[in-house]
Amino acid sequence: MSNYHIKHLEEYFQVYRKSVRDPENYWEEIAEEHFLWHKRWDNVLSWDFEKPEVKWFEGAKLNITENCIDRHLRTRGNKTAILFEPNDSSEKAQHITYNALHDKVCQFANVLKQQGVKKGDRVCIYLPMIPELSYAVLACARIGAIHSVVFAGFSAKALATRINDSDCKLVITSDGSYRGKKVLDLKSIVDEALETCECVENVLVVKRTRSKISMKDDRDQWLAPLMDAAEKTCEPEIMDAEDPLFILYTSGSTGTPKGMVHTTAGYMVYTAFTFKNVFQYTEDDIYWCTADIGWITGHSYIVYGPLANGATTVMFEGVPSYPDHGRFWEIVEKHKVTQFYTAPTAIRALGKEKLDFVEKYDLSSLKVLGTVGEPINEEAWHWYDENIGKRKCPIVDTWWQTETGGILISPIPYSTPAIPTFATLPLPGIQPALMDEEGKEIHENQVDGRLCIKFPWPSIARTIWGNHERYKETYFSAYKNMYFTGDGALRDSVGYYRITGRVDDVVIVSGHNLGTAPIEDAINEHPAVAESAIVGFPHDVKGNALYGYVILKETGETRDRDNVRKEINQLISERIGPIAKLDKIQFTSGLPKTRSGKIMRRILRKIASGDTSNLGDTSTLLNPEIVDEIMENVLK
Ligand code: WTA
Repeated sequence: MSNYHIKHLEEYFQVYRKSVRDPENYWEEIAEEHFLWHKRWDNVLSWDFEKPEVKWFEGAKLNITENCIDRHLRTRGNKTAILFEPNDSSEKAQHITYNALHDKVCQFANVLKQQGVKKGDRVCIYLPMIPELSYAVLACARIGAIHSVVFAGFSAKALATRINDSDCKLVITSDGSYRGKKVLDLKSIVDEALETCECVENVLVVKRTRSKISMKDDRDQWLAPLMDAAEKTCEPEIMDAEDPLFILYTSGSTGTPKGMVHTTAGYMVYTAFTFKNVFQYTEDDIYWCTADIGWITGHSYIVYGPLANGATTVMFEGVPSYPDHGRFWEIVEKHKVTQFYTAPTAIRALGKEKLDFVEKYDLSSLKVLGTVGEPINEEAWHWYDENIGKRKCPIVDTWWQTETGGILISPIPYSTPAIPTFATLPLPGIQPALMDEEGKEIHENQVDGRLCIKFPWPSIARTIWGNHERYKETYFSAYKNMYFTGDGALRDSVGYYRITGRVDDVVIVSGHNLGTAPIEDAINEHPAVAESAIVGFPHDVKGNALYGYVILKETGETRDRDNVRKEINQLISERIGPIAKLDKIQFTSGLPKTRSGKIMRRILRKIASGDTSNLGDTSTLLNPEIVDEIMENVLK
């Protein structure tokens, strides 16, 4: 039996029991056998969910890039590490070998050093899905700088907030980005953001689209000539196990985005372990995760997890609909992809198109299909199973979060029998608990509750950058001695988990987490708006879409309401990004409130979803009459 690679269900149960009985011993054996350390740990785990504080492999010394690159060079130097597939299918794919990756990462690391970046400094990366994005991430890790990748679809304001929150010293961006037919001007977004960021000293610019951009003399430099002049070796900075590796922002239900901090050793061990098992990766496989490296899925399962296993990981610059809706399947055929990992929203969107787009291609190389980011509905699951997997590829419905660093609940393919819509069983080391509304743990099965985790796993985020109090408040105060996920879940009669969705004010739209409060703040900036409330409602492609209830100020003047709608969405695009735009905006004279003045979102959610059969008791509201008005004018 191997702790590291689980190959059948019996083995899973044995390994799982061992991991719960003696977690320290379990993870210690894995860490010892599968990674390169400069110094061994003094202590495997210390933790306290009250403080909260979690430390794994304390005292150990390592560099994650040696584990992801250098140690493979002897045996896999000429193997493709990153297989880059460009936006335009006529542009050639690039096979970047482990040797080449080593050289690029070292050169980039040397460039960062020349720019004055040192261990512990924060570097913001705002790039499209091009190889330089992976080099940049790994170059930071090489020298011990903390990377903060911001998804290159965020607006200038959102980018500035993130840069300032973690005091980034340097920004890495590109002249532009290709997204299907569109060319986006990333550099001018960075320029606008930096008008309000005093911390940034230098900007490195990757040439990609050759768009005309402006370069600020004493601040901006093209990356290519600096890379060409840099040495191809760079000694790795030796890091402590608990040194921060990166910050990644995620939306909270209130306030500014939360900069989740992940540290080095535990994150490495857990992402490598889960990659190996959840995808049953073997040496000659070609693995493809379609996420963007701007999200946690890309960090853990495009970059770190696969590379730590010496895998070939596909990096795709484009979109699923360009040049047509067969692009994903064309790529699967072209590169003989063996594991394919995507989001339910993409499956739903492609499932609406003609099957010709799928049937044209030979998908017989596929062995495992994965989904992540939101609950997958049964119809999408079956479409994926029948048309992509041809009923012979197990589907892994992987549940996890930015905060968890790696997958926590998922089937192990070819071992765990799958049931559509169930993420199934916890991976080794993961101890889930369901809690009731009173804060008590639910021990029986076939019930739903709020999903918590009782015991730390190696890749749990250690804090929120600059705000440990908020970390404690958000994740460790709802239930004593538990990490609270913010999700609801159901446990069935055999102990399988099904994630039912967020129980807080985060709405997942096309797989992106959006907090409702920051969107309301953006809307309320509109001069005509007095108050607003945002809720999610079911959408057949996006999973959820956003519905806004808006009260206009009584100024006596008449306004063109469609114009106000447009302006509101414009504001949201500027403040947050186009992903947060509202699908429907209903103007109303009031919002249902409790006597203490809190908006009753539960009622608004039901009305927006078209489910008005059971609104509950509305008589205790401050203004019960408003419910009828809202129902009468609801947008279908
Ligand atoms: C949701 C993405 C159902 C969940 C890795 C979680 C899921 C949030 C699943 C985290 C799944 C993720 N089934 N829901 N398989 N995977 N979620 O931080 O609500 O972008 O809390 O991390 O996505 O989203 P995040």
